[in-house]
Amino acid sequence: MNNSGVLRMAVVGCGYFGEKHADIIGQLSNAELVAVCDKNWEAAKRLAQRTSCKAYEDIEEMLAKEQLDAVSIAVSETFHLDAVRPVAKAGKHILLEKPIARNTEEALEIVRLAEENQIRLMVGHVLKWDGRYQYTAEAIARGDLGEVISMYLKRSSTNGTVKRLHGKISMFHYMGVHDFEAMLTFAEPARPVKAYAQWVGKKNVPYNGKDTVFNTITFDNGIVACIQLCWALPEGSLDFVACAEVVGTKGASYIDVKDQGLSIYREEAPVEYPELTYWPEYYGHVHGKLREEISHFVKNTLSGEPYAVSTERAVEAVRTIDACFESLKTGMPVTIER
Ligand SMILES: NC(=O)c1ccc[n+]([C@@H]2O[C@H](COP(=O)([O-])OP(=O)(O)OC[C@H]3O[C@@H](n4cnc5c(N)ncnc54)[C@H](O)[C@@H]3O)[C@@H](O)[C@H]2O)c1
Repeated sequence: MNNSGVLRMAVVGCGYFGEKHADIIGQLSNAELVAVCDKNWEAAKRLAQRTSCKAYEDIEEMLAKEQLDAVSIAVSETFHLDAVRPVAKAGKHILLEKPIARNTEEALEIVRLAEENQIRLMVGHVLKWDGRYQYTAEAIARGDLGEVISMYLKRSSTNGTVKRLHGKISMFHYMGVHDFEAMLTFAEPARPVKAYAQWVGKKNVPYNGKDTVFNTITFDNGIVACIQLCWALPEGSLDFVACAEVVGTKGASYIDVKDQGLSIYREEAPVEYPELTYWPEYYGHVHGKLREEISHFVKNTLSGEPYAVSTERAVEAVRTIDACFESLKTGMPVTIER
């Protein structure tokens, strides 16, 4: 690590989310955006121009030529392990977008690479900076709700996302992993032991995607949880809807994210409900929880303090999702193996 008090960073993956990472890193006073990299050269060049840094299309070349302390990896889920391998071997700390990987096997390989190369790894579970989820987690940890009995978590979005992704990634990995991670946090120290899932696909069949899935998860202390994911809301409706109910022996917590408090109506365009919590853009830059997450990574990497995201739980979220997929295949409840 350099002693300048400024973390020298690169972003790998210049798509939808990498652009946001690059913008935020470029805005932080204790970070420097040195380079961006994408195997799509045009995407890398365009983002480098916009954020005034160098462009690369090959990770190894970038690592060899630039003096970096850390790399933010925002490539598609399918390529997380491919991108992590060279960065970890070069000894650079990693901020890795969620999910840690597309399956448990790759997630464990990523953890092994981080340990073997003695680098620090933080998975970008952005709900750790959403006060509604973190406040609930801390209330549960203090015992305010008593012993947790049941949980219901839900996340829905329009099928615009399905059209964009066209089956490249499942709704579990793209959006559901947030709720799996939150569920595991709320249930701590209990561990999930069984999963049963059922899904429906009608509207999104042309886009190679399902519409909705209901997952029932049982924990080793008897907690039962349901996670419902849906990305079949009509385009032009609310961008996303999320909620959670946690019931304990002494209390309950409710999260309800629907109306963001802003609707914009124009004569010649559909009504707009901009997302204002996670990565809203104003003053020409990205703000919100994603900025808090990346600031946390930068600050704690420089100081050596622990990260707010548990890598072990990030792996457990993917393991639980793997069990849900197995249940969808077999039509039966599946035991979660460790
Ligand atoms: N925190 C959140 O809520 C949130 C929201 C959206 C996306 N994400 C995550 O961000 C990541 C990226 O998603 P996206 O929607 O931006 O995908 P995207 O398809 O828009 O962009 C991914 C980019 O990575 C590039 N890429 C793939 N493999 C590469 C490699 N080996 N080297 C260099 N470049 C490579 C592709 O060319 C593409 O430009 C995913 O892990 C996704 O889950 C997180």
